[in-house]
Amino acid sequence: MSTKTILVLPGDGIGQEIIAEARKVLAWAGKRVDLNIVEGLIGGTAYDLTGTPLPEETVIQGKEAHAVLLGAVGGTQWESLDYSVRPERGLLGIRKELGLYCNLRPAKVYPQLADASTLKKEVVSGIDIMVVRELSSGIYFGEPKGIETLPNGQRRGFNTLTYTTSEIERIAVRAFETARKRQKRVCSVDKANVLECTELWRQVVTEVHAKSYPDIELSHMYVDNAAMQLIRNPKQFDVIVTTNMFGDILSDAASMLTGSIGMLQSASLGDKCALYEPIHGSAPDIAGKGLANPLATILSVAMMFRHSLDMPQEAQMVEEAVSAVLDQGLRTADIAMAGEPTIGTAAMGDAVVAALS
Ligand code: IPM
Ligand code: MG
Repeated sequence: MSTKTILVLPGDGIGQEIIAEARKVLAWAGKRVDLNIVEGLIGGTAYDLTGTPLPEETVIQGKEAHAVLLGAVGGTQWESLDYSVRPERGLLGIRKELGLYCNLRPAKVYPQLADASTLKKEVVSGIDIMVVRELSSGIYFGEPKGIETLPNGQRRGFNTLTYTTSEIERIAVRAFETARKRQKRVCSVDKANVLECTELWRQVVTEVHAKSYPDIELSHMYVDNAAMQLIRNPKQFDVIVTTNMFGDILSDAASMLTGSIGMLQSASLGDKCALYEPIHGSAPDIAGKGLANPLATILSVAMMFRHSLDMPQEAQMVEEAVSAVLDQGLRTADIAMAGEPTIGTAAMGDAVVAALS
């Protein structure tokens, strides 16, 4: 079998610790399949070493790799930097450079953790939501943007929300295709009652649906209502498709239904490249303490095996190993109930590898 190259980008904060655990899983897989693991720089760590949060070299490595695995970016020590070189620019930059317009963020409750949610068990148990977030356009990238000083001395900050028809079409197609493999229901989330740009969003999603996806049930929801419905009755959702910023917000909300953001993996897909990462951030408050939950990153590896590396068997084995360690009662602090004993990052990674072997 041909060698598969994986670019690993630990990044900042807990990124370093969780990626170390994911690498143990890659090492296990490397005994079964020929994997070439290369490591690169991104985020504040890259800025400190090279003066930019996204070195050109990283972009080249990303384009050459079969898949990219990312830890997290950002940290308080870089918050005073100019926007153009903040760690987050590294992440936005690689999404753009690799053409990663489709972000899949599943929110699924592990039965073992249903009690860890802050919502009632009967509200969350059994939820299985896929947020399909547009990732390379919208208000995150629209021009013009900036902060200017007006003649009257006031300062004015501005960003631009923009979507073209083709940008909406391609994410809508991904959402409908995703739904076809699930419960065949798509809820498109917008703010079409106020924002023209998302009125276009609604029109185009409706057109794509009418043209090619009559077998899928399509509904529309305003984002404020969607936020409320996610908390009120999350089981009504199958696939949610939405803009970059709404998807950023709603996917964090959806993640907490599952008990912990520390359990959730994600895939960012383009037509050529793919990047996998946990959806939680760099968690500066616990960075370096060995407390972070590595399972979201390990599950991101499973997602990468399935979607980019044609290794469905290994993907399933990793997912089952994660389930097995939960069955054993092993918990990092973020998924533990009050009073339950907890283990650290490395012990959790080791337990997954032990379950695999
Ligand atoms: C995410 C993060 C990023 C985003 C930040 C770190 C730039 O919140 O991936 O959800 O807003 O997209
Ligand atoms: Mg976010």
